[in-house]
Amino acid sequence: QTRVLTGITTSGTPHLGNYVGAIRPAVASSHRVDVEGFYFLADYHALIKVQDPARVQRSTLEIAATWLACGLEPGKVWFYRQSDVPETTELNWLLTCVAGKGILNRAHAYKASVDKNREAGEDDDAGISAGLFMYPVLMAADILLFNAHKVPVGRDQIQHIEMARDFGQRFNHLYGEHFTLPEVVIEEQVATLPGLDGRKMSKSYDNTIPLFCPREQLKKLIYSIVTDSRAPGGPKDADTSNVFQLYQAFADAQETAAMRQAFADGIGWGEAKQALFERIDAEISPLREKYEALMARPGEIETILRDGAARLRERHARPALQALRAAVGLRDL
Ligand code: TYM
Repeated sequence: QTRVLTGITTSGTPHLGNYVGAIRPAVASSHRVDVEGFYFLADYHALIKVQDPARVQRSTLEIAATWLACGLEPGKVWFYRQSDVPETTELNWLLTCVAGKGILNRAHAYKASVDKNREAGEDDDAGISAGLFMYPVLMAADILLFNAHKVPVGRDQIQHIEMARDFGQRFNHLYGEHFTLPEVVIEEQVATLPGLDGRKMSKSYDNTIPLFCPREQLKKLIYSIVTDSRAPGGPKDADTSNVFQLYQAFADAQETAAMRQAFADGIGWGEAKQALFERIDAEISPLREKYEALMARPGEIETILRDGAARLRERHARPALQALRAAVGLRDL
């Protein structure tokens, strides 16, 4: 069986980018008999950005309900909250001791924060927590603890998976072959879903379309997508259009080809956005109903998460950590 693992940070409300980049492909692979799936809520990671306990808890509930509404079957996969598996943080330390600091210096998220400080004329590391700097090591612990083979993510996470391989390799080199080196899985069509302003859809850019916002809001947001209004009725280049890229992420090959032709024929932006709204709504509406029903029963979600983590710790996390402790020279707990 191939082990597939992916997580979502509980720092906000899930958006269409999370859905097409990670949730949809992960749920699809979870139904395959040759796959053992690990899907989790990255709440330790959330603390790096969000220091508002109520928001972390709310987001955890929303993201858990999202996974379930999108078809994850908790009886058939490992579904858990990262902080319910504290073995992760212990492995985080073992990996910290082999991870190259120079590699972490090159992490995109850290470098972007340093660049921002430089532009503002501040010290390089002003306001940057050690947690942000160490982010890739914690993520490597998530992946290596369960020896995942494949990690389906959006393009923004590729560097993190490469770092996980690097840290795993260093550990293996020092202590023997303990870790499987993970492979990244990217859906090319939707590797980076654009947001309302054309940049990557991201909580940090405030340009997201929430996955389960009410229908009316979905429509309003789609109509607010920034478009080039220079030639409203003229031929349009599908490849440089956010509206087209979003459409493509929700349509099959035939619909996509028809829309490409419509762009060449000069479809109006209003009409293109209406078609996009209808396409997204058709896929999301049935899931939204399930989501709302789940959100009304938070106690059930909590039970599912606790059971999932308890089983996972017993079956995988504790034995794995025991072996790793022995490998580095720490006693059995
Ligand atoms: P996060 O929470 O930022 O995003 C969750 C997943 O959604 C993908 N994604 C996108 N895909 C396409 N287009 C977009 N605009 C877009 N925005 C987000 C992300 O690539 C990601 O796959 N560090 C991770 C969480 C994490 C993790 C892990 C993932 C922690 N440990 C171990 C995999 C394995 C993160 O912050 O993702």
